[in-house]
Order: sequence, then C-alpha cells, then structure tokens
Amino acid sequence: MALSDLLLLGEGRDLRSERGVSCDGQLPSASDPKLVERAIAARAALGDEVMILGHHYQRDEVIDFADIRGDSFKLAQAAADNPQAKYIFFCGVHFMAESADILTTSEQQVILPDLSAGCSMADMASSVQVNDCWAQLEKLNLGSKTIPITYMNSSAAIKAFTGKNGGAVCTSSNAERAMKWAFEKGEKVLFLPDQHLGRNTAVLKLGLTLDDCVIWNPWKSNGGLTEEQIRNAKVILWRGHCSVHGRFSLENIKDARSKLADVKILVHPECQHEVVAAADVVGSTEMIIQTITNAPAGSSWAIGTELNLVQRLANENPDKNVIFLDKTICYCSTMNRIDLPHLVWAMESLVGGEVVNQIRVSPEIAKHAKVALDRMLALP
Ligand code: 13P
Ligand code: SF4
Repeated sequence: MALSDLLLLGEGRDLRSERGVSCDGQLPSASDPKLVERAIAARAALGDEVMILGHHYQRDEVIDFADIRGDSFKLAQAAADNPQAKYIFFCGVHFMAESADILTTSEQQVILPDLSAGCSMADMASSVQVNDCWAQLEKLNLGSKTIPITYMNSSAAIKAFTGKNGGAVCTSSNAERAMKWAFEKGEKVLFLPDQHLGRNTAVLKLGLTLDDCVIWNPWKSNGGLTEEQIRNAKVILWRGHCSVHGRFSLENIKDARSKLADVKILVHPECQHEVVAAADVVGSTEMIIQTITNAPAGSSWAIGTELNLVQRLANENPDKNVIFLDKTICYCSTMNRIDLPHLVWAMESLVGGEVVNQIRVSPEIAKHAKVALDRMLALP
C-alpha cells in the first residue's frame, strides 16, 4: 500500500470516503437573509427519514434544528435507539459522529456537516501511542491486570483498542460506574485520554488518593514513569485534556465568589482537579442543565463549561443569575465549526439526492469499538 493510502487510513477513518464532496463555493453565506428559511424548507423536505442530533455545546442557530439535544451519552443512546432514521445529521464533533456510525445499522448514514469539527482532546491519544503504552504494560506482565476505560472523546481506533482489551467506553455521566466496573474486573485502570476526568473520578468518586494515580506521557519513553511507579499505580491517566474545560482556574472561582454573594460554582468534571475540588457542584453536561433547571429562583451560579451552553442556560433561566466562570470568552472552536451554512449545505445536498460528509468507520475498527460502546450502554 502506498504511503499516501496509509495516511488516509489513519485511526480507522477512511478519509477518502469522509472527504465526500467539497462545499467550496457551495456554502451559503452566513449573512444570507434567507438562511433560516432555507434550513426550514430543507428540513421539511427531508421528513421522517432524517434525524438531527445536536450536542448541547452547539450554537443556537444549529441546536434550534435538533430533533434530539443531548450530551455525548444521550446522543449515543439516541443513535442506537432510532434504526428508522435513514440519515442522521450529527451536529457535534467527529468522535461523536463516529460513535453514532458504529451504533447504527449498515442501512443508516451519519453526516457531519463540517468534517473539520474534530476535538483536540481526542487527538491527544493516537492508536500508535496507545498500543505502545499497552506493550509496555504487557512487558511488565500488567496487561491482564489492567482494564482500559476510554472516554467517549476519543477516536474510534482507541475505542476499538479498548474493546479488544476487555475495557469499556465511558462519558462524563457514567465515568464513576465505568471505573467501578473496571476495578471489579482488574487491579488497575488505564484511563484515556482525559487525565482530569480520570483523576476526578478516581479521587472524588471512588475515594482513591492522588498518589494512586500516575500520568502516562505518550511523548516520553515508558510514559515518563519508572517501573515502580507503574506497578504501584492504581490508575494510569493518559496525559490528555480538554482545552476548553482545562482553562478554568482557582482564580476564576475566587473572583466569582468575591463578586457575587452566595454564588454556587458548578463545573464539568473535565476541569482541573483543584477546580473541581473547590466547586460546589460537579456534573456532566446533562447534570449541569438539570441543576440549573431545578435551582430556586433568585439563586446565583457561575458555570465552568462550554460557553454556548452557559449562555443558553442564562437565557432560558431569566429568574436565576447564571454567569460564565471564566472572564475570557471560551467557546469550543471545533464545536462551533458546525454552523447554519454547513447544516443548510448538507441538508440541501441530501434534498438534491447527494449524501455529503458521511462518516464511515472501517468495519474492523467498528466491530471492536462497538464492544466497548455496548459495554458502556449496558453499565448497571
Ligand atoms: P459530555 O457531553 O459527555 O458532557 O462531554 C463534554 C464534552 O466535552 C463534549 O465534547
Ligand atoms: Fe473536545 Fe473539549 Fe471541545 Fe469537547 S469541549 S469537543 S472535549 S475540545
């Protein structure tokens, strides 16, 4: 196989099929006054064969068209539970669309309106690096004692590695259950790729200590760890993080508390450990939404998660004081790549009989990744 082919087949993604049709020159202008009208018309023309899934971090202009809104767990469930939807428009990021493709039937097609909507955290763990880490663990005879738990925010190839090696996928809403499940099966957990979610779950939910956790740095030989450190660790955390949630700091919390009396700090578990430990409430995206929805009128909340969601919560809860925890604007730039022009382009193309930007995971990768995803969906 030529080098160019090998490059195109990285991480179980066949980029040749994903390239699909270029939207160059066809993308409606964001300032087209008829854009919303066009979106409504295209959606109506597509009817029941189409389902639009929207992650809560999407822009308002896009989430308004979602048939189902959810966090990554709810959207994975929605993809698995709707075999009647022939076409699924996934308004989220690449790893979510891959999971939807894995969990749907071969008759269903998943469309990501902009292929450049990736995730910097997912990119922090490549299969070459993860296989290398596993080989080191096996060399120390620790492979059979270690259960990999992979956050949903990872490529299909990493999920496949997890499925092959007795592990499960988790999301922020079930990381605790997944880690407990792993410790019932083995002595150690390899948690990929978000060190913060792994650490926060191990320490704040399972009662392990910070010393029970070590960080595997894929850019250093042997992960930058000694054999003794690896042997003593209960949780091996991959050195990955979310560039959006990783920004929130203790300083932000101090600022919010000094400016707003009785403010409650509510953060996502992808935030750094010191931030999560100092917060009043920690929860997955769905849990953050429930907390604000059920909060008493007049209560004040500083929220550490993606800004589109925080702004939406503030608008939908005018009787509460909802603010963004950081002082600087902090959208997830890749989530924001899905905008109305891309959604309109993808929908109008399908109205015209053309499927663009289909996400297709190779069957071999999908088979093993599905094992890890199914284990997550079956968690007690
Ligand atoms: P959840 O949807 O699982 O809360 O994950 C947050 C996130 O960062 C999605 O990219
Ligand atoms: Fe990735 Fe973080 Fe953006 Fe989620 S919010 S898609 S984890 S960069």
